[in-house]
Amino acid sequence: MRLLTAVLALLVITVTPAHAAPRIVGGEVVDDTGEAPWVVALTTSSGGQFCGGALLGPGQVVTAAHCVRGRAPGSITVVGGRLDLRTGDGSTSAVSSYEVAAGYSTPSRGKDIAVLTLAEPMPYRPLPVAAPTAYMGGSVGTVYGWGRQAEHDADKSPLLHKAYVPIVPDERCAAIHPRFDAEAMFCAGYPGGGIDSCVDDSGGPYVIDGRLAGIVSWGVGCARPDTPGVYTRVATYLS
Ligand code: ARG
Repeated sequence: MRLLTAVLALLVITVTPAHAAPRIVGGEVVDDTGEAPWVVALTTSSGGQFCGGALLGPGQVVTAAHCVRGRAPGSITVVGGRLDLRTGDGSTSAVSSYEVAAGYSTPSRGKDIAVLTLAEPMPYRPLPVAAPTAYMGGSVGTVYGWGRQAEHDADKSPLLHKAYVPIVPDERCAAIHPRFDAEAMFCAGYPGGGIDSCVDDSGGPYVIDGRLAGIVSWGVGCARPDTPGVYTRVATYLS
């Protein structure tokens, strides 16, 4: 019986193709809640995930301004403590109110940050904010999200993913993205592309050394060569 189980397990492992493991773009599945207890999903009342976020405190979530602008607070449900969105793990809360950064208009103009107040505080460890000195070109941060696994991939994975992406020096990013503003943003990506955040990862955290450095904000396509993703420079707004 034990042998049969072992043989079956081996079959499942060898028969599952590598590409069946879903990804952010070029990332991997997060399978331990303890790794990112502060990560949350923003969903509609019918459960559709549209953005990510992170807990700053038990009753406070930080996300991108463009994730919430134009939505009634009562139409946003925050899901915490749940890696697989098909499950009932963790807890959910309504949003009682939110504040968008003053002067925000569109992601490419910066200030793409908002703080939500939860109706039901969540018992998960919050994420501290990075210092303004954390944004060194070449530092590798981790970005988390439930978004697309390829630029043209409409399939959404219910599983949380993460990817390791290095910060691109500001001068380099300014040469690539004419709208780049180093006070409001930073870029992260690989010269060859292949690993990036993507659509529906917006609002999700980019973490350096266990601290919130960035928020997924905008990009041109996803994971294209020489086209780093652009993140809100959180320390400009929250330190
Ligand atoms: N604006 C997208 C969203 O709403 C995020 C895009 C990030 N793109 C990128 N290439 N990193 O989900």
